Amino acid sequence: MAKVMGTRLQIWTFFVLASACKTPGAENASVESAQHTSGAATALGVEDVPADEAGYIQQLQDLTIDIMKMNQKQIGAPNPVRDVHTKTNGCVNGIFEVDPNLDPSLHTGVFQPGARYPVIIRMSPGAPGIKPDSGVTSRGLAMKLLQVDAVLDQYQVPTEERSWLLPQFAGLQQDFTFLNAEQFIIKDLSRYIIFTKDLANGNPLAAFINPNPFHPIFQPRELKLFIDEVTQKVSNLLGISYFGQLPYKFKDTAFKYRMDPCPSQQPLPTMSSKDPDYLRQAMTETLKDTTVCYAFSIILQKDANIQPIEDSTIAWPSSDKDIAANKPTANRTEVGRITIPPQMISSDAVEQRCERLSFNPWNGLAAHKPLGNMSRARKAVYLAGAANRPSDRGVQTPDEEQLAFLKKYSAYGLAPK
Ligand code: HEM
Repeated sequence: MAKVMGTRLQIWTFFVLASACKTPGAENASVESAQHTSGAATALGVEDVPADEAGYIQQLQDLTIDIMKMNQKQIGAPNPVRDVHTKTNGCVNGIFEVDPNLDPSLHTGVFQPGARYPVIIRMSPGAPGIKPDSGVTSRGLAMKLLQVDAVLDQYQVPTEERSWLLPQFAGLQQDFTFLNAEQFIIKDLSRYIIFTKDLANGNPLAAFINPNPFHPIFQPRELKLFIDEVTQKVSNLLGISYFGQLPYKFKDTAFKYRMDPCPSQQPLPTMSSKDPDYLRQAMTETLKDTTVCYAFSIILQKDANIQPIEDSTIAWPSSDKDIAANKPTANRTEVGRITIPPQMISSDAVEQRCERLSFNPWNGLAAHKPLGNMSRARKAVYLAGAANRPSDRGVQTPDEEQLAFLKKYSAYGLAPK
């Protein structure tokens, strides 16, 4: 399937690039309509909720449960499994440390200067089902900051600033979710439903170009974003950049986040992509003796027209190149570092805990509330997903193995320096 899709991708890529050159009007029309979906929301951090949204969210939720059961059948698993991101490349323990010199204007929620949280990170391909790592797919990273209330106690953050988005899971965790591309590939929920169905049927390209005479589809811009994301060559998941893609509340405005390998990081080992689990092997090899470091940065919303909340296919520029070119609104501020010390990633205990984890961008503080239509949909979808498979449903305290790990790395203890 990966091979067939690879060939199809080449053909479609050619077609899309050719059509994008020949029909600039069509490409512009797509960008235009994307920019106007959030026409009403021109103030910073403000959402724009369309009247028909609840119906789309319900459809997505139902579809998710159907696909979980389909995945279960295909894999022969005893229970439903994740709709997408089904395969685990690996779960790792680490420490998130906020910059001790963080500018006071950026102190909010978990971002307290010098705060240290134990984290658990799960890496997964975005595709449904269990496939060889060499297949075309997005690459996901989900990170859970643990012991959040305990750390915020140390900073005497008032309880009124610590309201939790999901009261049933209050107090413990702040989740952050990432993929390997700057922008989300789909512009709204009606399109996301089409994409989810086609992805589950093994033909995601039909969501972007489909000559069906009754419902023709031509979305060259989304298709280009999709191809860029799923064809990125990855030799080691611990060595690439990851992006939150969607906006989140940040005081009176909004932010997006990203994770990049620290500039000081040495090159990481790679394995032959012929092994169906080569990305797991590369992680295992790396973490035998190497400490991996990531910089966690935020991008603030400065202009609601140029950095829309509701259309996440429009990038909020944050690369070195964008910043050097003085692109309007381009910005990126490193607020913390993630350290992943050497460890064993393939023990039974790690595997079992990893499988039961459930991440949800709504699992966290109201100070970092997810914003925009995709985020609003994710709330219901992720909760339904976790409820329909054996999972800890967001409740995750360090188990014995993690506690032993934290003890071993006592230099990274919870207390501020
Ligand atoms: C409407 C938009 C989206 C929908 C409907 C959606 C749906 C899902 C679903 C159903 C799961 C499985 C969850 C579970 O069973 O626990 C999942 C997992 C995941 N999603 Fe999304 N997703 C969306 C957007 C995004 C975005 C924007 C990102 C990041 C930039 C993202 C990153 C991830 C990651 C990393 C996982 C794996 C979580 C884990 O390790 O358990 N997703 N998504």
